[in-house]
Amino acid sequence: MGDDVRRRIAELEATSLEGGGKERVERQHAAGKLTARERLDLLLDPGSFEEMDRLVTHRSHDFGMERQRIPGDGVVTGFGRIEGRQVAVFAQDFTVFGGSLSEAHAEKVCKIMDLALKFGVPIIGLNDSGGARIQEGVVSLAGYADIFLRNTIASGVVPQISAILGPCAGGAVYSPAITDFVFMAKSSSYMFVTGPEVIRTVTHEDVTMERLGGAATHNQVSGVAHFACEDDLDTMRQIRRLVGFIPANNAADPPVRAIADPPDREDAALDELVPADPNKPYDIKELVRAVADEGEFFEVHAHFARNIVVGFVRMAGRPVGVVANQPAHLAGVLDINASVKAARFVRFCDAFNVPLLILEDVPGFLPGVEQEHGGIIRHGAKLLFALAEATVPKVTVITRKAYGGAYCVMGSKHIRTDFNFAFPTAEIAVMGPQGAVNILYKREIERAPDPEARRAELVREYVAKFANPLVAAERGYVDAVIAPRTTRRRVITALAIAANKRDWMPAKKHGNIPL
Ligand code: HXC
Repeated sequence: MGDDVRRRIAELEATSLEGGGKERVERQHAAGKLTARERLDLLLDPGSFEEMDRLVTHRSHDFGMERQRIPGDGVVTGFGRIEGRQVAVFAQDFTVFGGSLSEAHAEKVCKIMDLALKFGVPIIGLNDSGGARIQEGVVSLAGYADIFLRNTIASGVVPQISAILGPCAGGAVYSPAITDFVFMAKSSSYMFVTGPEVIRTVTHEDVTMERLGGAATHNQVSGVAHFACEDDLDTMRQIRRLVGFIPANNAADPPVRAIADPPDREDAALDELVPADPNKPYDIKELVRAVADEGEFFEVHAHFARNIVVGFVRMAGRPVGVVANQPAHLAGVLDINASVKAARFVRFCDAFNVPLLILEDVPGFLPGVEQEHGGIIRHGAKLLFALAEATVPKVTVITRKAYGGAYCVMGSKHIRTDFNFAFPTAEIAVMGPQGAVNILYKREIERAPDPEARRAELVREYVAKFANPLVAAERGYVDAVIAPRTTRRRVITALAIAANKRDWMPAKKHGNIPL
């Protein structure tokens, strides 16, 4: 190679490292954001980044673009390690043409995705982009579609993680939407199909970027995002934490850690966790943390549908996906959002060999016109379908209420859960005592000399007969009634027994989960 070629390559590489130049980098920092390379430095183990395609440029000759070629073309791609494990990454560089997606930019992303699929490693996308590169027209739209196709094909084969770290509009939101986990940074990231300006023109609604598609909106209201992080640094830390729970691909097991926490550790406080009054709330996360190794719970979707709690723990060093009704919020009822949130999490765990622990205290599906008209039947069926379909080891612990259809849905024995435990406080019945008595004995209560006294008596009878785990245990629908303090040991033992589980599904193209 001649000296002039070597010099030229060195120059181009240096230009690529500078991105869109000092001024734009300063603007990025002033907006509280880091550059693509700074983010990758925080995300990956030091010195592990292997960059690809640093010299790729766009091919456009329109709108004076031939005079503005920046090597790398607004996206940094390659491979790196997180805690020693390989991942594929792409990080859009907002300082170069607003991180907008050109044909060449899309090809770089697609190349990394194709290789990640071939190598069986997770794909992490750091998105910070003004969307399709306007100067390239349909060619950049084609680039988005090429990425969407790869997202879809990779789904369930390698984990896909998206971070939204700036404005993401139009095509830039649909790729993250297909991926498994979406992180957003507070106050600096936005997702919308169309921004406030267009909305003002079309629907005459006046809305800020933040309210339309900020981190709070997508974490609390729409459920599009799973994590609301403080800033870019926090986002990179949280992604690293998530990667520590998930396998490289669907043929691999999740990573196992050496943990000092004894598997047979008992927690006497759990015996008192469930209040004697069945209508008194308590925080199910206390149980989650008590059974987890070292009390660590990595909650997913923490701000959305808080009546159900999902996330990862380790038990005896092995990652476990937890799905738990939350009595501390809306009595843990299953509504549309809770069903969809839990169903998606269950499907991730099932696709990636993460066993499931279901903690059940659910008064049923939320009644009401709004829920019925919103399609609670269709959405509730998603969770039922997902849990019934899941072939990973499944353990359910009923802590208190397991009423009605929600009993069937929340990991009942009948939808092939492997181990079903119940606390002595479990109440397993078609419905709660008050509702049941009112339906069964309406006329008798009306005719009684003292209707309220008769109602109370009938409720007591019903409670004695049904509001306990015995009927289910006699049938074998519950395998054992356990002392709450022993939950950790019982679940770890059950998961160890089921560790090599092989369950089956008949050969089919794919199921038809009610969407
Ligand atoms: C080319 C773009 C660009 C784009 C931004 N830039 N978006 N260049 N194509 N899509 C450039 C700007 O010209 C500017 O260049 C630099 O990036 C920074 O942009 P600013 O506007 O100065 O930044 P800011 O004020 O922070 O605003 C960011 C923004 C805004 C909100 C993203 O730029 C914007 O609204 N962009 C257009 C968004 C959009 O509508 N995209 C198309 C979506 S449709 P200089 O040289 O000045 O630094 C789509 C279709 C896909 O994506 C559909 C698939 C289903």
